[in-house]
Amino acid sequence: MSGVLEGRVALVTGAGSGIGRAAVARFTAAGARVAALDLDLDTAASAGGALAVRCDVTDEASVVAATAEVVRELGRLDAVVACAGHPGPVAPLADVTVADWDNVFDVNVKGVWLTCKHAIRAMREGGRGGAIAIMASDSSFVAAPGIGAYCASKGAVLMLIRSLATDHGPEGIRINGVAPSIVDTPMPRLTLGAGDRPLSEFGVPDWHTADEIAGHLLYLCSDAARGMNGTALVADFGGMARSTFPV
Ligand SMILES: NC(=O)c1ccc[n+]([C@@H]2O[C@H](COP(=O)([O-])OP(=O)(O)OC[C@H]3O[C@@H](n4cnc5c(N)ncnc54)[C@H](O)[C@@H]3O)[C@@H](O)[C@H]2O)c1
Repeated sequence: MSGVLEGRVALVTGAGSGIGRAAVARFTAAGARVAALDLDLDTAASAGGALAVRCDVTDEASVVAATAEVVRELGRLDAVVACAGHPGPVAPLADVTVADWDNVFDVNVKGVWLTCKHAIRAMREGGRGGAIAIMASDSSFVAAPGIGAYCASKGAVLMLIRSLATDHGPEGIRINGVAPSIVDTPMPRLTLGAGDRPLSEFGVPDWHTADEIAGHLLYLCSDAARGMNGTALVADFGGMARSTFPV
């Protein structure tokens, strides 16, 4: 999809690692000038975008300042990728602390909402519409044992995508998501305690690369996805398509 974002400006949260980092590279290769946002400036800068900005997505003042800096430095805002995410605690729900629950919801739900809230305001002012792609998960649809707080947060993200799309689609701003099964990044490796070992040793039959997911995010932010709004693309190697019928 080389050149599909020529002349456009994109903002990526959680840009310093995993899928966000791959999105910065993909969107840049597609012609966009990309602002890389992450918790600290060095991490953001390591993504190699046109602009690095420190931003904590859980802090509204930080999101307001970062969005304003992107528009001031790069001149406009056309596309947003919301990748900043928190894996949450690994514990059955009855053993999860309120602090751990709040952390995962702060980043995965409030953080996505704040990112979109201020991006949409900037896109409105730009008057050219825009597109937002949010990282949902297969955990938006199905629960995995021991990561219930994360699953609940990603379920909320799916409804946030639908609600944002319903509210802001009429003003020319499309909001969609990508909902993958395991992507080989630091996040699932941390949750699984996998270190540097192959994910296959942890019962994962297949997994995506971060670049493959970045390709889906790019499609959703491109004009080729003009009719897509309020949906989440499930990429799970067919996992959810299969019934539990035992043959
Ligand atoms: N990797 C997977 O298997 C997988 C599968 C489905 C969905 N996802 C989702 O994709 C997104 C990206 O995950 P990843 O695997 O690339 O993770 P990752 O851990 O590699 O990267 C997450 C990034 O988010 C940043 N971040 C965390 N809290 C932040 C905050 N408050 N403000 C700003 N940035 C913050 C981190 O610094 C990090 O750079 C997440 O939303 C995750 O839930 C991942």
